Amino acid sequence: MSFFAVNPARHAKGKVSLPGDKSIACRSIIISSLSKGKTTIKNFPPGKDPFYAVQTFKRFGIKIIQDPKNRSVRVLGKGLYGLKAPRGPINTGDSGTTFRLSLGVLAGQRFRTVLTAGSSLSKRPMLRVISPLRAMGAAINSGCKLGKDEYPPVTITGADLKPITFRLPVASAQVKSAVLLAGLYPEGKTTVIEAIPTRDHTERMLRLFKAEIKVHKNSVVIKGGRELAPPAKIIIPGDISSAAFFLVLGTILPGSRILIKNVNLNPSRAGIITILKRMGGRIKVTSHCPGGRGLPSDRQSHKPQATSWEPVGNLQVESSKLRGTLVRRAEIPALIDEIPILMVAACFAKGRTVFEGAEELRVKETDRIRSMSENLMKMGADIRLTKISRHEKIIIHGGTPLLGAKVKSFSDHRTAMSMVIAGLGAQGRTCLDDVNCISKSFPGFLSLLRTIVK
Ligand code: S3P
Repeated sequence: MSFFAVNPARHAKGKVSLPGDKSIACRSIIISSLSKGKTTIKNFPPGKDPFYAVQTFKRFGIKIIQDPKNRSVRVLGKGLYGLKAPRGPINTGDSGTTFRLSLGVLAGQRFRTVLTAGSSLSKRPMLRVISPLRAMGAAINSGCKLGKDEYPPVTITGADLKPITFRLPVASAQVKSAVLLAGLYPEGKTTVIEAIPTRDHTERMLRLFKAEIKVHKNSVVIKGGRELAPPAKIIIPGDISSAAFFLVLGTILPGSRILIKNVNLNPSRAGIITILKRMGGRIKVTSHCPGGRGLPSDRQSHKPQATSWEPVGNLQVESSKLRGTLVRRAEIPALIDEIPILMVAACFAKGRTVFEGAEELRVKETDRIRSMSENLMKMGADIRLTKISRHEKIIIHGGTPLLGAKVKSFSDHRTAMSMVIAGLGAQGRTCLDDVNCISKSFPGFLSLLRTIVK
């Protein structure tokens, strides 16, 4: 088997611009397809997940014109009932966001759809999203039932839905979003209550498309039965989940300084910045646009753009002396996808870092508690895992150098990228079994990294 070799780096210096946010990109395709009119989406990311969002909605008869060279996509939305019944099953690849959010949309359609998934998504639980949609009236059958859960493929027949009030059983933005999208259909108010706030990209984008949506302290209410109006142009901000690898690299390598441009700084996503700063990370937010103004750029810093529904800024990171911290359960949703790379940061931090309530990591693209702890322990990290009822903790004693080792991606993009960063900061060569999986979210990761690492 051929391995990808990572040699230790001296430092990382330079400027990077990142692909658009994957979560926001998938939502932009879904929501613009449901609106009445044309939307131009700029900075559309090249990853596989957004590609599957496009393919899925093309199969529903939506005209989507892609211009990959300019990272631009045009969607000709046909309204809430404009989707056509597809011929044959639709494969959403391994895009959990496309699969789960599409179920919300399909619950309100007047036809039957079979959604299938790639090999990793086929192992991820779906009952969390199926049960509220069943409660709203959709008929849903899953092809695979195991234990108490249900898995893809899923056959869904839409109905005249009834609005519900739904309390999220797990902190999941995908489940919340599926119910809110289904809530676009029935007259009346659909309410989602969440104990811990999760990313609110759907709420922000629905508001941008003129949906009647209100956010209260711990609930979101959407009033259905009215068409969405497109904002003409959307610019997708850089993905903070991709920025995360550069933030950690910049802090752990001595003599480093990286400027990361135009990153989405939505507080429901930007937990990694809070945590790294608490660990002593030297991170500065520059040219911050608080979601009411334009995207900062070198030439025209505040020209109004249709990014105004999401806050954006530049981040500057410098090498830092990290120390351990406690990451509480309530902080997890705002950094759920960044825990793998924060585990790497914790190995370089002096003292103890604890992640409380990390159990949702078990049901991501792979079991990320296992993938990251097995890999980092092979490199000599001191990691302990505890479980009390369903609550899981990751405890890392950092500060001793990691040593190069043979590690595995577990076919997971975030595990692979995290292990590349760990290898750059380690002593000796690290060999990674597979880097192809990185293309799920960030196909240009390795080449961008090469431009700043010495
Ligand atoms: C996402 C929400 C999170 C996250 C996933 C993308 C989204 O998942 O881990 O990568 O786009 O809403 P959950 O909703 O399962 O927490």
